[in-house]
Amino acid sequence: MITLQDPIDMHIHLREGEILKNILPFSAKYFSACLAMPNLKIPLTDTNKALDYKKEIQHNAQELNCDRFSPIMSIYLNESITKDELLKAKKADIRILKLYPKGATTGSENGLQEILNQKTLEIFEIAESLDFILSIHGESNGFSLDREFEFGEIFKQIAINFPKLKIIIEHLSDRRSIDLLHQYENIFATITLHHMIMSLDDVIGKGLNPHHFCKPILKTPKDRDAILELALSGDEKVSFGSDSAPHLQSNKLKQNGAAGIFSAPVLLPKLCEIFEKYNKLENLQKFISDNAINIYKLKNIPNKKITLIKEKYKVQDSIRIDNDFIVPFLANEELIWRIKD
Ligand code: DOR
Ligand code: ZN
Repeated sequence: MITLQDPIDMHIHLREGEILKNILPFSAKYFSACLAMPNLKIPLTDTNKALDYKKEIQHNAQELNCDRFSPIMSIYLNESITKDELLKAKKADIRILKLYPKGATTGSENGLQEILNQKTLEIFEIAESLDFILSIHGESNGFSLDREFEFGEIFKQIAINFPKLKIIIEHLSDRRSIDLLHQYENIFATITLHHMIMSLDDVIGKGLNPHHFCKPILKTPKDRDAILELALSGDEKVSFGSDSAPHLQSNKLKQNGAAGIFSAPVLLPKLCEIFEKYNKLENLQKFISDNAINIYKLKNIPNKKITLIKEKYKVQDSIRIDNDFIVPFLANEELIWRIKD
């Protein structure tokens, strides 16, 4: 038996409307808090939009009787953000800005064309002074496997120029990025389940698997192993962020298929399996909760204990949404830990 205190997912795409309604149970039942990403159809570019979305999530959580679930909100960084807007956000308890480079991934059309210019530097300065956290999807528009590495220079520039601003490398995927955590006091990271256990071969190695296509793209086995080792170590600069990102099958299969892995249904069981396999169960609590509470200074975590028992079961093959469906990560595969309801 494994008991986890307040699992927290610091990077998740919960979507809106019908998809939100259908996928929220996988997170709201078993996690105490989730950082909801702002790349919706109408991006959450200001406090009001983020608060409306928070209400939508909370309403759905109530319908599920999940009263002990806190959505943590973020604002989509854009050049029109002002100091007043950030003050307003802070009053509403929103302290996270999410930076997408334009075109880097799903829902990044409204992202930054230029990461470092006069306007963005002003925003970073205000964010630093107001104690915001800057979460970054760090990818250049270069060669796919080098995109995160190439973005490293920008991470460095921001870290040096704004030493009090906490910067998060979201979904760290390239082993060459790990040094940044050690070189700069104000750089942190989230790690996904999929980057811990898969490489590019899982996308294209035995026929194309669109359900493993995500951004940043899965990398080499050496990268995977280094990311896994970092997560298993319980390093205090790293917290868990699933980047669970559901897409309808029809959107996965069309031309320019959608990037995103819907991992929410398997997260805690698979993490238990991996941490047990490598004899690191003692570090799982840090990775799944404690580090996030410290890094993001999270308050009012609902106090939820989740127990997993050793029991085999098969992951469902799909989740129906109207006339379409979403395929979860590890569909039809056997898991060995089950969450006790
Ligand atoms: O694979 C991804 N999917 N990566 C992202 O950064 C965004 C996400 C999505 O929203 O589908
Ligand atoms: Zn994401």
